[in-house]
Amino acid sequence: MTFPADFVWGAATAAHQVEGGNWNSDCWALESARPSLFVEHSGVACDQFARYGDDLAILAGLGLNTYRFSIEWARVEPEEGGFSQQALDHYKRIIDACWSRNIQPMATFHHFTNPRWVARDGGFQNDRFPERFARYCETVACAFGDQLAYACTINEINLPDSLDQLMARVKAKYPDRVAAGEAAIGAPIESFFLFAGVAGYTARAVRTHELARDAIKSAAPHVPVGMTMSIQECEAEPGGEAGVAAYKQRVYAPYYDSAKRDDFLGVQTYTRMRFGADGKATRRPPPDAELTQMGYEYRPQALGAACRDAWAATQTPIIVTESGIATQDDGRRRAFIRSALEGVSAAMAAGVDIRGYVYWTLLDNFEWMSGYAPTFGLVGVDRRTMARAIKPSAVMIGEIARANSLEAATKSADQVLSAGAAVGVSDR
Ligand code: BGC
Repeated sequence: MTFPADFVWGAATAAHQVEGGNWNSDCWALESARPSLFVEHSGVACDQFARYGDDLAILAGLGLNTYRFSIEWARVEPEEGGFSQQALDHYKRIIDACWSRNIQPMATFHHFTNPRWVARDGGFQNDRFPERFARYCETVACAFGDQLAYACTINEINLPDSLDQLMARVKAKYPDRVAAGEAAIGAPIESFFLFAGVAGYTARAVRTHELARDAIKSAAPHVPVGMTMSIQECEAEPGGEAGVAAYKQRVYAPYYDSAKRDDFLGVQTYTRMRFGADGKATRRPPPDAELTQMGYEYRPQALGAACRDAWAATQTPIIVTESGIATQDDGRRRAFIRSALEGVSAAMAAGVDIRGYVYWTLLDNFEWMSGYAPTFGLVGVDRRTMARAIKPSAVMIGEIARANSLEAATKSADQVLSAGAAVGVSDR
């Protein structure tokens, strides 16, 4: 199972989850509320604002060729129309550091968080959101957009649509936490991305993506631009076919339609959803299923299914911009990556145009409301010292990338680690 010579092999992060000190964002305000919807505060996260150089050295040393990271709007535009040259310079330094190590920078312009001033004004619920976001994208793209290898507008743009019922239950169960959060951000909780899936969201989100894409393209016409979507394998239990169709129509179709006009579509898959005869979706796994730390069904095969679905609907080239597993057992992570890539390879053999695979995530990091307990990383982070520890799965994916072949995935952990030592992979 080999991959094309220019295949994108990467690992991803998102600013709020790794940088630390993102105090001007709505998420930080929600974490600081008492009581809070978040189990703990992001705080210094992985201190990556300071340590990005070391992390890029690890990524390059492993053999990966792409780094997906996000640009934090709350840093770049701390007040409406007031752009921070310091913040723009920071992200420009990250891009320079990528190229100096032969790593392609793939930047995401929105990964869940908004600046406080945007949240205070309703976030995605405000009709002015699309123009505001596009102006920020244009500013960033004019500053260094042409130096990006890929640009992703909005991360998992359809996630609010898919979370709508779950978040309605969270609201009903924790009214005091929601009230404290709303007081902290100065707006209804629907202002925060994860709760944004209410009437009007989908159309506004599509418009936001399209304005952002055009803004980036006008400053950097040669840079491939796309959105990323949360796409899970959807399986019908007996009688559940209509439920699957209705879900795809509501949560995927509006974005697939828009993605037909994009350069690529970012596919992000974590598990399988099942639909019963009542038409309802459940993320509840089958009784005998192996579970990840997130409580999801262990289901690496979901990725191939998601790619086939996206390709059939859009015929737009795909980059897997996130695929990963939260586990403490790195052997299960290696098995997961191997199996997910087998699914990618089989889909490619069947004619699906897949251009890359980016693992979520480079570092064990801040998993939003679940805090630091779930560990998705290829690289561990000591929460006290911030020291990085490379896991065998990191070495394995690096070997796969170097060889453009899945053969390395058949090795034992010891063989993988000694292969890593042979090419000089070490913790920094
Ligand atoms: C998000 C990441 C998140 C990951 C694991 C995706 O929904 O883009 O920010 O950490 O899933 O839950």
